[in-house]
Amino acid sequence: MFTDEKIPNNVDLARDVRLQRALEAWQPSFLSWWRETGPEGFPENDVYLRTATGVTAEGWAHYDFVRMAEYRWGIFLADPVPDRRIGFGDFLGQPVWQEVPGEHRTALRRLIVTQADTEPASVEQQRGLGRTCPSLYDLRNLFQVNVEEGRHLWAMVYLLHRFFGRDGREEAEELLARRSGHADRPRILGAFNEPIDDWLAFFLFTMLTDRDGKFQLLALAESGFDPLSRTTRFMLTEEAHHMFVGETGVGRVVQRSAELSRQGDVRALGGIDLPTIQKYLNLWYSISLDLFGGEVSTNAASFFGAGLKGRAKEEKFADHVAGEGVVTLELPEGGALVPQEVPVRSAMNEALRDAYVEDCQRGVDRWNRLLEGAGLSDRLRLPSRRFHRRQGAFAGLFFDPDGRPITEAEWARREDDWLPSAADRAFVKSLSPRAITRPGEMASWLAPPSKGIDGKPLDFEYVRLG
Ligand SMILES: [Fe+2]
Ligand SMILES: [Fe+2]
Repeated sequence: MFTDEKIPNNVDLARDVRLQRALEAWQPSFLSWWRETGPEGFPENDVYLRTATGVTAEGWAHYDFVRMAEYRWGIFLADPVPDRRIGFGDFLGQPVWQEVPGEHRTALRRLIVTQADTEPASVEQQRGLGRTCPSLYDLRNLFQVNVEEGRHLWAMVYLLHRFFGRDGREEAEELLARRSGHADRPRILGAFNEPIDDWLAFFLFTMLTDRDGKFQLLALAESGFDPLSRTTRFMLTEEAHHMFVGETGVGRVVQRSAELSRQGDVRALGGIDLPTIQKYLNLWYSISLDLFGGEVSTNAASFFGAGLKGRAKEEKFADHVAGEGVVTLELPEGGALVPQEVPVRSAMNEALRDAYVEDCQRGVDRWNRLLEGAGLSDRLRLPSRRFHRRQGAFAGLFFDPDGRPITEAEWARREDDWLPSAADRAFVKSLSPRAITRPGEMASWLAPPSKGIDGKPLDFEYVRLG
């Protein structure tokens, strides 16, 4: 436990007075950013939250009532692995780096800043959701996700301050200056500038966009820069809860939808119909796929070669150098899709995207089992990875959800069949005119969760309103 310090940590911050002062100077800026852009409402309420106080099993699952602004955001690195070696690329087998190698400094800073920027962005995106929460249980989960994304920002800012000197400190300031969706100083990546205006979007975001985060963190956990590896390994333990919120959240909406569909018109009965859920899925899946970057990428190749960013679970691959050989990707060329041979290293983004797609499919399969169990023949599905892309080889082209090329005119005609229309969004919003805050009560459009948090009952007062 390190709870006496201003900044809880397991990096022996007290031993590095300059660094400690720099981070203590950044702390008030973080707190004013939190007040300005963090969760709206409930500032004085005690929330039943999990706080990381260490990296052992007991340490990171400490639950108690806290006010969000008094949350103990800390810096925690997973324990070092003795004699850890670089697991891929040109430096395979060499000892990992404890300091930033000069020649990789710019690339590493870019990787860290790009990851870091997503953390505050999602807090900003989710800012207004408390006002329309479907239950106290869900409100608490939203706030849990929010404070942990705040901690992930701390985790990345620690790396910037500790290892990147003045430009690291400047980047840390910039992380608090950009704003999700802002016209002049937006967040770095597209999906993190998309509005999250309703809880269906929140559940799909935590299912699909936080899952991009999981795979980016898995790839960075392989890094030869050991502090980055240790930081991201611990972040992954928290990230798992975010995806739990998303997968079970969507699952509860699906389950409720299935129940209501046996009684009549789902929308008229206050539920969300499957076609609408499918459209939200199409949207958040496609913009999350964009986060993996171009199908063919020389940056990805050099990150891999330099040992900075690996593949998810690198040990599962047979060849960790990937210096030769090709993979075949179907890429657009002259108006058609043509199989093209791409060097393995240049297809690293696609390798990470493959692992992500597989993981998403498992979640969709679980939702479909709920539909099957309810006796329905309808199913949800992931659209083609060519559908609605704004980054990479398919950006600027038009494909239907099956991945068939279509014309721009057809896209314009069909877009509202495939992505949430203004009317769909307005309908979903209309289901939640206000926050539902009576312990145990649920909105009409989602089933209760199968169990509470930390062994507490469903009607537990997860956020104290009194
Ligand atoms: Fe995060
Ligand atoms: Fe997350």
